[in-house]
Parts: sequence; C-alpha cells; structure tokens
Amino acid sequence: MNDTRKKIVAGNWKMNLSLQEAQSLTAELIGMIQDEKHNACEVFLFPPFVYINTINKQIQDNPIQVGAQNCADQLSGAYTGEVSVSMLNSIGANAVLIGHSERRTYYHESNQTCATKINLAIQHNIIPFYCIGETLNERNANQQFEIIEKQLNDGIFHLSAEDFSKCVIAYEPVWAIGTGLTASPEQAQEMHAFIRSKIADKYSMEIAQKVSILYGGSCNDQNAKELFALTDVDGGLIGGASLKSRNFMNIINAI
Ligand code: 13P
Repeated sequence: MNDTRKKIVAGNWKMNLSLQEAQSLTAELIGMIQDEKHNACEVFLFPPFVYINTINKQIQDNPIQVGAQNCADQLSGAYTGEVSVSMLNSIGANAVLIGHSERRTYYHESNQTCATKINLAIQHNIIPFYCIGETLNERNANQQFEIIEKQLNDGIFHLSAEDFSKCVIAYEPVWAIGTGLTASPEQAQEMHAFIRSKIADKYSMEIAQKVSILYGGSCNDQNAKELFALTDVDGGLIGGASLKSRNFMNIINAI
C-alpha cells in the first residue's frame, strides 16, 4: 500500500437485494462507519439503478458515495431501457462502473464501447471505475498481459492526462469473480504493477503514482488485509462480500 494514493473500498451489489434489503444494508453500514471507521479510505456503493436515488438520500452527509453499475453509450433519445450519465448526475450518483466483465461477457461490450462511456462519464463529472481483467483461458495461455494492455489502450488510454487522472482502474481477473478463487498476492501485485507501468509509459510516472488501482474477485474479509497491503493495490471492488454489512465493514477496516 502506498500512502499517497486515494484508498477505496467499493461494493458492487450487482443484481441483488430488494429495496428493503438494500435500505437495511445501507442503514447498518452507516451505523458501523460512524462507530468504527478510523481510516481515510473512501467508500463507494454501486446499487442497481432503481435504488440509487433512495440510497443516495438515505446516506445524507455520511461519508459514502453512490454510483451506478453501468451507463448508456448515448446521452439521450430513443434508447429504450437505457440510463444515461446525465440522468445519473441528476440523481446525485458520482461514479459509474464501466466495462465490468459481466457486461463484457453477457452484453458483449467492447473496449470501444467502454471508451465511449468513459468519455460521457467524464463530461458529466462522474468518476469512471474502468474494470479490466483476463479470463481463465487467457491466463492459462499466458496472454493476461496482452489482454490487459489492449483493454487499457483501446478503452481508456485515449484520454488526456487530465481526464485520465479522474479515473479509477479496477483489475478483476474474470476467473476470480464469484468463484472463491482469489488472485494470489503475487499474481495481484504483478498485474497491478504492470498496469501502473503501462500508465507511466503512456502518461507519466507522476500520474501512474497517483491513480488508484483496485483489486476485485472473491475479495473478502479473510483475504482483504493481505491484498490491500500490496504496494500497488489501493483497495477493492467487492461483489458478494459487499452484501453483508459486517463483512463489508471488515473489508473497509482492512485498509
Ligand atoms: P466477487 O467479489 O463476488 O467475486 O465479485 C467481484 C466483482 O465482480 C466486483 O465488481
């Protein structure tokens, strides 16, 4: 862990929880954060679209930020079922996950689509959390570095240095998501350092040292401390373990 970078623990609730469950989870978290949080890490919640407004109002002045799990690649118009960054902005969301592996796999989102969404998010003052990661087949074929480099080149490296500095990167190896197979500390550190070196090559060492790179994929309250202690890991993007307040709070406290 490097003390000069912003530390972040983010909960991606995916397509889980009723509104009542989401509100209870948020209420519990608010209480725990008020009572127990003693570190400077930033906490983000990514609820399903339909709960964002309610959860955001519930949070009030508590130090939790709320974002969306996706956004449209258009700003407005006849795109039935889509939600734009300007809509997210109008309900107080200040971050958005872009390029999550589930969106890439099930909804065929390409690096180019991600690039468009990232541009829209930045134009509307919404922080893009750009998610990248290789599949198990790609890792078995030793292609993980190539894949990650392409996701960076085609998805986010078109940004100016100023805009890139507003983004967060989340490395989520697809084979670790929801499987209980966490990347080993060696695998996580190796890839995070690789990502940071590519940012330094593209922009500058200064920018590379400032950008937060989160780890995601079966991160839980048993392994978070070890992962967060790694030099180039600046926090976590948590799926399953963010659905229980105690587990998520333990992860926040692991920073
Ligand atoms: P899990 O923590 O459930 O493996 O999910 C990680 C993830 O996809 C977060 O975006």
